[in-house]
Amino acid sequence: MIKKCLFPVAGYGTRFLPATKAQPKEMLPILTKPLVQYGVEEAMAAGMDHIAFVTGRNKRAIEDHFDITYELEDMISGTSKESQLDCIRSLIEQCTFTYTRQNHMRGLGHAILIGEALIGEQPFGVILADDLCVGESDGIMAQMVKAYEKYRCSIVAVEEVPVEDVDKYGIVSGQHLDDEYVRVEYMVEKPSPQDAPSNLAVIGRYILTPDIFEILRNTPPGKNGEVQLTDALQAQAANGKVIAYRFRGQRFDCGSIEGFVDATNFFFNRKP
Ligand code: UTP
Repeated sequence: MIKKCLFPVAGYGTRFLPATKAQPKEMLPILTKPLVQYGVEEAMAAGMDHIAFVTGRNKRAIEDHFDITYELEDMISGTSKESQLDCIRSLIEQCTFTYTRQNHMRGLGHAILIGEALIGEQPFGVILADDLCVGESDGIMAQMVKAYEKYRCSIVAVEEVPVEDVDKYGIVSGQHLDDEYVRVEYMVEKPSPQDAPSNLAVIGRYILTPDIFEILRNTPPGKNGEVQLTDALQAQAANGKVIAYRFRGQRFDCGSIEGFVDATNFFFNRKP
């Protein structure tokens, strides 16, 4: 059983300035729930009840969100508003939350390496909360756990993107095992459209085996001077130890304004 899920949330969220000047982008709401809560709910639905955050400066609101707010709860107790906190209360009751800080923004790979202290020697999920995912039946992370149980190696969630957008993603290519799975042979971070080996893009959902930490420790800074998770995954892929999984569902890139608006409209239209 995979019990732990890591949330790297140390990034600055510069695309949402000035909204993210003094608050984390992961706390921006889609309707009434912050992005990060959707991610934690997805992890929980996949059986991961140990939620580990790699945070940074200005991210205190995330810790406060996953804690009790006595004054407020006392004030709305017995009113019609009380039930609005039910979903977050049940998460607080069911999950264990741990936190560590990334002092310098040295990239996603570096953030995950910082998370080693919270994860230890076991396979774990990774959710980038600004990719908001809605599964067709199961959540995306629950689908990925099934993929892990089948292949017992690192799993990356992928989707096809327009060729002109490949330079925003890690791109994979390899042996297509069936409609759902690709055994990854090659991964490259943000290639130009003419250098991209495919249009299969990695989105913000991973299951990683713990050997990734040692690989990350020895991974030099790559694209944009950051330690790239893609480079470390390429080392695993060279040994046939990365499977790309075409998930069933929909992803909204809520790190971009367009994706954020699309997600808001999607959830608003689905509202009972
Ligand atoms: P992004 O590059 O999408 O996020 O990183 P960002 O830097 O916060 O956003 P912009 O581009 O400035 O608007 C992907 C994920 O990796 C985390 C971010 O928090 C985000 O969830 N991250 C990135 C870290 O935790 N640490 C880093 O050093 C870099």
